[in-house]
Amino acid sequence: MQQILRAENVEKHFGELKAVAGVSFDVYAEECFGILGPNGAGKSTLITCLYGASSRDAGRLSIFELDPQINGRRLRARMGIVPQDNCLDESMNVYENMMHFAAFVGVKRAERMNRVDTLLKFMSIDHKKEATVKQLSGGMQRRLVFARALLSEPELIILDEPTTGLDPAVRHLIWQKITELKLRSGTTILTTHYMDEAERLCDRLMIMDKGKIAALGSPSSLIREHCPGYVASFDLHTELADKIKSKLASSAEFKIIEDQTGIHIRAPQIESLVQLGKDLQAEARLIRPSNLEDVFLTITGKDLSADA
Ligand SMILES: Nc1ncnc2c1ncn2[C@@H]1O[C@H](COP(=O)(O)OP(=O)(O)O)[C@@H](O)[C@H]1O
Ligand SMILES: [Mg+2]
Repeated sequence: MQQILRAENVEKHFGELKAVAGVSFDVYAEECFGILGPNGAGKSTLITCLYGASSRDAGRLSIFELDPQINGRRLRARMGIVPQDNCLDESMNVYENMMHFAAFVGVKRAERMNRVDTLLKFMSIDHKKEATVKQLSGGMQRRLVFARALLSEPELIILDEPTTGLDPAVRHLIWQKITELKLRSGTTILTTHYMDEAERLCDRLMIMDKGKIAALGSPSSLIREHCPGYVASFDLHTELADKIKSKLASSAEFKIIEDQTGIHIRAPQIESLVQLGKDLQAEARLIRPSNLEDVFLTITGKDLSADA
């Protein structure tokens, strides 16, 4: 597979803080590469270094064999960017925003109207053409920014938290569009703090915490490596929690994880969890396969919703 991005020991500092503290990774053509991490992990800071909006303090970066710090403009012409903040012009309506940006990224005059119409349809916001940015819901604004990012027919799409704060229906629509772009051989880099988003969309991902890479691999390989098996969740009654802890204290088979939502027990086999419930005379609230949230918890000792 063709490598299109290489990052080597990239760092970005804000005073004493190393927001990005030496990360190295590669991105290959046609993959969806994810950066998963809690608030403050350094995802946006890293992303802005990728498209040359901020300069790095150390390390090397090359995208399409160009350095974003030197060839930012040339590179941005080949990238579609959905920044965390929408950066829409509130004085213009949806159509004007698109036409203006189409001109800005150099879409030929004769093609502009057609391309804008096609993309507004693609993101299902063509019925909002005349609406001003202020009249749009958060989800509609996000769809517009997504459509705007596609105007230059980019080879690489960068999405910084594409669905944060959106309702489930809009999240699903955006996931569907990202998947469609993937099927058209697009390369995508996305950041998220939602493990379901990462699991659903990303071919490979890196888990980021406090500016560093905590783990890197495909969702399934990360789960297999760090926490294979199933997790049963029990409500947190003190009596039951004590019973579980004393019963499983010296067990190599079961791992106990406690958080605000309950007591969770992981085991390689689902049958052992079912049997455990019977032995404890307690029914698990939920038994599910391990997921990326469990990987994050296992590696960092905290959950994804916590700040980095
Ligand atoms: N312009 C800035 N000046 C100072 N600190 C910043 C700036 N931007 C980000 N930070 C800090 O850098 C860290 C990483 O932030 P950010 O990259 O936005 O994380 P994420 O996108 O993963 O939530 C945070 O501690 C944040 O407060
Ligand atoms: Mg961010």
